[in-house]
Amino acid sequence: MTAQSTTRVTGPDAASIADAARILAAGGLVAFPTETVYGLGADATNGIAVARLYEAKGRPAFNPLIAHVPDIGAAQALVAFDQAAAALAAAFWPGPLTLVLPKAAACPVAALATAGLDTLAVRVPNHPVAHAILDAFGKPIVAPSANRSGHVSPTTAAHVHADLAGRIDLIIDGGQTPVGVESTIVACLGEPMLLRPGGLPREAIERVLKNKLHAAPAAATDNGAAPLSPGMLATHYAPRARLRLNAKHAEPGEALLAFGSVSPADAGRAKIVLNLSPRGDPIEAAANLFAHLRALDSAGAGTIAVMPIPDDGLGEAVNDRLARAAAGR
Ligand code: TXA
Ligand code: MG
Repeated sequence: MTAQSTTRVTGPDAASIADAARILAAGGLVAFPTETVYGLGADATNGIAVARLYEAKGRPAFNPLIAHVPDIGAAQALVAFDQAAAALAAAFWPGPLTLVLPKAAACPVAALATAGLDTLAVRVPNHPVAHAILDAFGKPIVAPSANRSGHVSPTTAAHVHADLAGRIDLIIDGGQTPVGVESTIVACLGEPMLLRPGGLPREAIERVLKNKLHAAPAAATDNGAAPLSPGMLATHYAPRARLRLNAKHAEPGEALLAFGSVSPADAGRAKIVLNLSPRGDPIEAAANLFAHLRALDSAGAGTIAVMPIPDDGLGEAVNDRLARAAAGR
């Protein structure tokens, strides 16, 4: 599959930073330090790279990711800032604060990175190595904490290596991360809401807002973030069309979400066909999932027939999301 046979570990010298940028541009995975914890970076605009990232972490589901950018200007190309968000960004970026904001219309971040949501988490890290990589790469980098899913976040390159050796391309060792806990996550989608306590204290945020932060709606998840999105994805991404899962054939007039080869008869009966992966690759299917669902939905068919997808690798997460989308309607 995508597992890399060797994972190189290098220092943060100029040649290694250039290497990191090259690997990211080629769709590879690079772990690097931020001021909070080590992140596992991928090109935010490359759906296949994002799918590989989920696979390397062994994430059971597609939790949405944080897009890392070098400055506020770069963030403004991705998301819409309201007044509160602008004040928080001005006060705390670069720094351990992540803002969840409405995606901009022309946001180039892959649909998979936001798990199909209309919001995007963004942050400007405060670490020279993270900045060097962002500058060299020149595009947003999605980076969850660089640990296997369910493990604690890594604060040294050795932690990253212990979890992800053989699964990613490169680890840039920039020493121990100074903050040591993940960023604080605040959603500004109306009244500012604390989704995850983290490296920036709540009090500092409330001083800038001149207001208390609202509490997140429900209990915290495994890594401390409230399930504003992950736990509620079933209701967040639900197509208008009915989803018919495990469809062996398309019925006349249905939209067909295909996987693997499609018979000419099915292609003829379907109103429209989009293929998650003609070669039957679950990584490619994951990368295409949310964008294809949206495209078929807007084509106006009453029912989207979804061909069977094996539960191998990322196929399990693809099927999980399809089941939620089918139920959430
Ligand atoms: O300090 C950090 O934030 C580190 C470094 C590497 O930047 N990153 C990090 O990422 O902790 P991760 O993926 O381990 O945690 C991100 C959290 C997840 O709980 C995810 O559900 C939440 O952010 N999140 C991401 N996008 C979201 C969105 N659109 N709405 C709500 N929550 C979101
Ligand atoms: Mg994490």
